[in-house]
Amino acid sequence: SSASVATIHDQKLHRGEGGELHQRAEDGAPVLTTAQGGPVADDQNTLRVGARGPALIDDFHFREKIFHFDHERIPERVVHARGYGAHGFFETYESLAAYTRADLFQRAGERTPAFVRFSTVAGSKGSADLARDVRGFAVKMYTKEGNWDLVGNNIPVFFIQDAIKFPDLIHAAKPEPDRAFPQAQTAHDTFWDFISLTPESMNMVMWIMSDRTIPRSFRFMEGFGVHTFRFVNAKDESTFVKFHWKPKLGLQSVAWNEAVKINGADPDFHRRDLWQSIQSGNFPEWELQVQLFDQAFADSFDFDILDPTKIIPEEILPPHPVARLVLDRMPDNFFAETEQVAFMTQNVPPGIDFSNDPLLQGRNFSYLDTQLKRLGGPNFTHLPINAPKCPFHTFQQDGHMAMRNPVGRANYQPNSFGEGPRESPAQGYRHFSAEEQGPKVRLRPESFADHYSQARQFFISQTPPEQSHIAAALIFELSKVQTPTIRERMVSHVMNIDEALASKVAHGLGFKSMPKPADAAMPTRQDLEPSPALSIVER
Ligand code: HEM
Repeated sequence: SSASVATIHDQKLHRGEGGELHQRAEDGAPVLTTAQGGPVADDQNTLRVGARGPALIDDFHFREKIFHFDHERIPERVVHARGYGAHGFFETYESLAAYTRADLFQRAGERTPAFVRFSTVAGSKGSADLARDVRGFAVKMYTKEGNWDLVGNNIPVFFIQDAIKFPDLIHAAKPEPDRAFPQAQTAHDTFWDFISLTPESMNMVMWIMSDRTIPRSFRFMEGFGVHTFRFVNAKDESTFVKFHWKPKLGLQSVAWNEAVKINGADPDFHRRDLWQSIQSGNFPEWELQVQLFDQAFADSFDFDILDPTKIIPEEILPPHPVARLVLDRMPDNFFAETEQVAFMTQNVPPGIDFSNDPLLQGRNFSYLDTQLKRLGGPNFTHLPINAPKCPFHTFQQDGHMAMRNPVGRANYQPNSFGEGPRESPAQGYRHFSAEEQGPKVRLRPESFADHYSQARQFFISQTPPEQSHIAAALIFELSKVQTPTIRERMVSHVMNIDEALASKVAHGLGFKSMPKPADAAMPTRQDLEPSPALSIVER
């Protein structure tokens, strides 16, 4: 009978190995409820007309349970979708009051709670950890003057000089739209097509082809703010600053053949490493180091300190250690914290300001926009992981999921009811009053034009084994490119970086002769025509 079937079913589900009941609230567990708080009697069977009959729409518990499940996924990040985070603290070594009025830098030993998310850029949420890719190194510091997000990477330079190119870069790097592959790989035609047509990416390309892009773990990785920022002190004086995170354990990578094996055997290798090291009390640590300089120093270079494809060489301006970052606690819930954390470059406390780097300026627009979409509306700062840990008061209200509406009658200011917060000229954020003047133009400055010198400096700074890894990576990557002109264009850029490297790569790709070195300027439409003079042998 149906009664006896139900009894057997009950016993299987509700009795553990030892035969004791353990799924029922009557045995001490809290009562399972709907999201509305209604107690649930049976979470195993839908409401039906007879045991073998159709399901009933009356079953509000079933409908709520399935509706919530159906809505579990949110869009993955448009870039940096795969990431892993941890909590910790940021602790200063000394006061930087001479340079910045940011409260977190006023006192030696000041501790600020922090959350860090490491990520790869191109792969989707489910991709493998050891891809040849840039790693994101995003740090949220919950300062007493609001959140400071230092949204950096493990490589100190970037592919492009202007944020308007970002959608093109990412479209080219992500899976190709018709075939939807390759996943999280640089090795494909569209990526190298874009790169070969974007000479400004050459410095970054050398870093990407180096061992730097396959870290042994997050704990052995450097981080960089990339852009030039400003510190602004209490006297409203500005100093340019570049931020660097140096891992206490030093810098270590794996070789490509190791990465391929690890990805196959354990695609969560980096996640597992961070989880295990923190759970076992081996707290990873980084030092924040800064390069501080003024306008006269900036003017002494041939390149532009506003150009994010350039570094300031550390031997010219050694970074100065100012603080440490320790990660000592894993999130309780991956989704609530690591997935819903919203980093935004425009989150800066008073005393930290932006330069005119055109990539940074574009990022300051993009991150708010993308969080609105990804986290479903304007109230994502109400989520505990994104909320400031200092007192905060706004007149913002309503919208989806509003949890912090204004209290009282007056939700505007000025008001004569004496209600709500007030602005503070003394404590509030003052933008550095840089003098700006000029015609409205779309124009890349001449000071952004040298795309090869730093790429060369990076290549020759590498040891011979590291240089051979770069050559091998270029040969492997470009051998996956089907279109001969793209390979040829890439080799012609490498000729401007290092001729020996270029001929090694050309040889590895089976070229019969070397192409002409690339013109440093962006190619015209005519340059994009295949060059008939070149003979390239397909491998
Ligand atoms: C996400 C770094 C350039 C748009 C991220 C993340 C990092 C990062 C680390 C992941 C944040 C997280 O862990 O949640 C960088 C660096 C850049 C750069 C270092 C250049 C130096 C840009 C540019 C744009 C952009 C130029 C657009 C104009 C985005 C977007 C996300 C993102 C839309 C997804 C954010 C989210 O959904 O949470 N970036 N990025 N990025 N970045 Fe960038």
